Amino acid sequence: MFQIIDLKYKNILDIKELEIPGQRITCIVGQSGSGKTTLLRMLNKLISPDSGKILYNDENLKEIDSIGLRRKVVMLPQTPVIFNGTIRDNLQIGLKLAEKPEAADSELLEILEKVHLKKGLDENADKLSGGEKQRLALGRVMLLKPEVLLLDEPSSALDEETEQLIIESVVEFSKRNNRTLIMVTHSKKVADTFADNIIEIKEGKVVEA
Ligand SMILES: Nc1ncnc2c1ncn2[C@@H]1O[C@H](COP(=O)(O)OP(=O)(O)OP(=O)(O)O)[C@@H](O)[C@H]1O
Ligand SMILES: [Mg+2]
Repeated sequence: MFQIIDLKYKNILDIKELEIPGQRITCIVGQSGSGKTTLLRMLNKLISPDSGKILYNDENLKEIDSIGLRRKVVMLPQTPVIFNGTIRDNLQIGLKLAEKPEAADSELLEILEKVHLKKGLDENADKLSGGEKQRLALGRVMLLKPEVLLLDEPSSALDEETEQLIIESVVEFSKRNNRTLIMVTHSKKVADTFADNIIEIKEGKVVEA
């Protein structure tokens, strides 16, 4: 699905060759500061390589319209954004920004269940805990059902038990809908349990397994 060839970006990334398969679960692991977030941002075309190229379904990302790409490839940032308003508003806003029709409350409640958030749609999102906000933002991405989900440490604020539940849920969701899931995780357990494919980054380079 993604192919990286001779990519260089500042002194941050230097990747000779990397392939990320479609409709699979890929985990990106590596030390803090190794370049994991930078790599995800490249796949979302938020930044572009200084040299080399990234192909998405055999097409150079450089030639793909950024907005169009981000309808298919949606990124959950490491620090998710929560907007003023209710939980419902915060779920709907993803659809609104993507110019997609609003979802019915029943669908929103289903998503809240998937991210194990036991809150009402009318509750103020600002009052949620850090981990709850993280799950709400993940729900927002899932609601969009993108071809590719790029998740940057989606469970960093969660305890181990909740982490397993949430990751299991998003993995199950991706598999059932034939989506591609690419996530950065600090958890070896998550990577070992759920990944079809593990990419380790060390000082900007891919470490051969
Ligand atoms: N826009 C930028 N300009 C200059 N340096 C940057 C920029 N963005 C990131 N960096 C640097 O690039 C390196 C990789 O950063 P990145 O955020 O990709 O790491 P990471 O692997 O995601 O780390 P963490 O696990 O802590 O989130 C870091 O040294 C960071 O300081
Ligand atoms: Mg990061």
